[in-house]
Amino acid sequence: MPRRIVAGNWKMHKTAAQARAFFATFLPLAAKIPDRIEIVIAPPFTAIPCTHELLRDHPRVLLGAQNVHWELHGPFTGEVAAPMLREFDVRYAIVGHSERRMYFNETDRTVNLKVKTLLKHGITPIVAVGETSEERKSGETDRRVVSQTVAALDGLDATEVARVVLAYEPIWAIGTGANCEPPEADRVMGVIRNCVRGLEGVPILYGGSVKPENAASYATQPNINGGLVGGASLDPEGFAALIEAAGAHA
Ligand code: PGA
Repeated sequence: MPRRIVAGNWKMHKTAAQARAFFATFLPLAAKIPDRIEIVIAPPFTAIPCTHELLRDHPRVLLGAQNVHWELHGPFTGEVAAPMLREFDVRYAIVGHSERRMYFNETDRTVNLKVKTLLKHGITPIVAVGETSEERKSGETDRRVVSQTVAALDGLDATEVARVVLAYEPIWAIGTGANCEPPEADRVMGVIRNCVRGLEGVPILYGGSVKPENAASYATQPNINGGLVGGASLDPEGFAALIEAAGAHA
């Protein structure tokens, strides 16, 4: 069975001071959640150093990043490299998020380069794939997620494939409250799991309007191994309740 993970993606929310306030409430709650579910939080880059400090005595919560460059250094104004993340013990990095694909020119090719760099530097990529509402309406969902997944993992050997995490995030469900019905999310995630050899043990997370109230309905599906959570990860009590609901069915 793949391990279970709930990852919070804070996107462009919270200053370092606000991150500190979040963890003051969240860490005592997280300490009580059974450890059969991994907890990851991906704050903005500017809150990574203080989060790293805060998590030093709290191994229950792991640090993630929301992006990375595929090169290790160089003239890439505004970018952050994998060794810079490793310095703060960042364990996960989200790549291919639809917002990065949509607004920042992330492509299947750059996702693939980032995945390879992250694996070389001991950071687990969380590769996000998903269809637009137009693609869903025209019956293109499966083809879309398969092509994104195959491209992201292109050139990886079996041991590398086994080290990634995937996230299925239907774009029309992100931040909209219009979440994908759990059985349909599970079906698409089954398609993803079977499109590349070696994904049997890889965690696949569902993302798109996951809340404390619906987390359990996803966690009980056979192909869903956790969640990638945006809006609902910003509130410490709500996020702890969401993880607890998901973990109760692990
Ligand atoms: P949401 O975002 O939970 O706010 O829908 C999910 C994501 O974009 O990862």
